Amino acid sequence: MSSVDTIIRSAPGESCTPELAQGPWTFDLGTPGYGPGASMGDVIPTGSPRQGQLPTEYQQASNDELHARIRAAKATLGDRVVVLGHFYQRDEVVQHADFLGDSFQLANAAQTVPNAEAIVFCGVHFMAETADILAQPGQSVILPNLAAGCSMADMADIDSVEEAWEQLTEIYGTEPDADGRVPIIPVTYMNSSAALKGFCGRHGGIVCTSSNAATVLEWAFERGQRVLFFPDQHLGRNTAKAMGVPLERMPMWNPRKPLGGNDVAGIEDARVILWHGFCSVHKRFNVAQIEKARAEHPGVRVIVHPECPMEVVDAADEAGSTDYIRKAVAAAAEPTTFAIGTEVNMVNRLAAEFPQHEIFCLDPVVCPCSTMYRIHPGYLAWVLEELVAGRVINQITVADDVAEPARIALERMLAAKP
Ligand code: 13P
Ligand code: SF4
Repeated sequence: MSSVDTIIRSAPGESCTPELAQGPWTFDLGTPGYGPGASMGDVIPTGSPRQGQLPTEYQQASNDELHARIRAAKATLGDRVVVLGHFYQRDEVVQHADFLGDSFQLANAAQTVPNAEAIVFCGVHFMAETADILAQPGQSVILPNLAAGCSMADMADIDSVEEAWEQLTEIYGTEPDADGRVPIIPVTYMNSSAALKGFCGRHGGIVCTSSNAATVLEWAFERGQRVLFFPDQHLGRNTAKAMGVPLERMPMWNPRKPLGGNDVAGIEDARVILWHGFCSVHKRFNVAQIEKARAEHPGVRVIVHPECPMEVVDAADEAGSTDYIRKAVAAAAEPTTFAIGTEVNMVNRLAAEFPQHEIFCLDPVVCPCSTMYRIHPGYLAWVLEELVAGRVINQITVADDVAEPARIALERMLAAKP
C-alpha cells in the first residue's frame, strides 16, 4: 500500500481537493486558513499562528534528499533531540519519529526524555503546548510548521468559555451538595488550547483524551454534580451516553447564542453540557458508509473514533481512540476485514502493516486532516538542521501563569489513568 502522499500525487482526483498535491508551503503565506484537507472549510480564528516561508532549498529538495538530511541531522544531534509523531502524520514523517502514538501516549513519551534538549513534535499545536507544559525546564518544544493547528481546538476559546462559566455559575451557585460535590466541573479534551487546560486547573477540572474519557468523566462525577465538556461535543456525548447519561440531560452550549441556546430549566437539569465543537475529519463519516461496507463486505468489523457523530458510533461495532483502533487490529488473530473511521494516514498505515487483514477507510475519498498535513519532511529537515546549527526555531512556549494550572489539570488526568 502506498503512502497517502503517493496516492494523492499519483491520482489527485481521488482526494477531497487537488490542492493536496502541492507542498504545504504553498499555503504558508497565502490567505490564513487551515489549508487543504478535511478541515479546510472551517473558520480559522483571527490571530492564529502563521508559518513564515519554508526556505526554498527545503521546498525544492526531493524526498530522498530530505530523508537523508533528516537522518544526518538526527545522527549529529543524537540524544539531544527526540522526534514525536502522531498516528495521523504522513508516513514520510512517521519514519523519522522516535515515538509514534496517540495524543495521550505522546504526552507521556515527552516526559520520558528529560535529557533531550529539544522535543520536535510532529503533530498539531495543542500537542506541542502539552509537551511544553510537561517538559523539563530548559527543554524546548518545536512544532515544525506553526500553521499546524486543530480546527476543533479552535472552536473553544478562553473568552467564550469564561463567559459560559460565569453564566453557569450564576445559575448553579458555588455551594457543594450534601455529598460534597460541587455544582459543575470543567473537563477539556486534550484537543484544546493550553489556556483551556489552565482554566480547568483553576476550576477543579481535568483534561481527558479519547483513550481515557470515561475514566475522566467518572473522576468528574465523583467530585461534581455536572460537567461542562469542551470542545468536542461528539466525544462528550458518545462517552456520557455509554455511561448511561440520557441525551435529554446533555444540552449543547453554542457560545454564539444567549445562555448557549438553552433555557434555565434545561441548564438546571443538565448532567453534561456539551460545547458546540467538532472535528471536521471525523464529521465526514456517516451511517450510509457503514451500511455500504456491511453490504459489500459481509462480516466486516467497523471501528470508529469517538469524535465521530453519535449515529456513526452507534452503527459501528466498536469505537475507540487511535491507540484502541491500532490495538484492535493488531490483536485480531484471524484474517479480518476492517472498515475504519478515522484519519486516512493512520488507516492506510495499518493496512500496510497488517497485510493479513483487509483494512480500508470508511470514507472512500482520500482526505487527510488539513493541519496534520501541514507537517512535511521539508519542515522537519529545516528545524533539525537549524538545531544542528545551534538555533531553536518554531519553539512553542506556554507562559508560566497558564502552564502552572494547565499542568495541574494534566496531572489529574495522568493520575486518573484508565
Ligand atoms: P487521539 O487522542 O486518539 O490521538 O486523537 C487525537 C486527535 O486529534 C483525533 O482527532
Ligand atoms: Fe483536530 Fe480533527 Fe485534525 Fe484531530 S483530526 S487534529 S481533532 S482537526
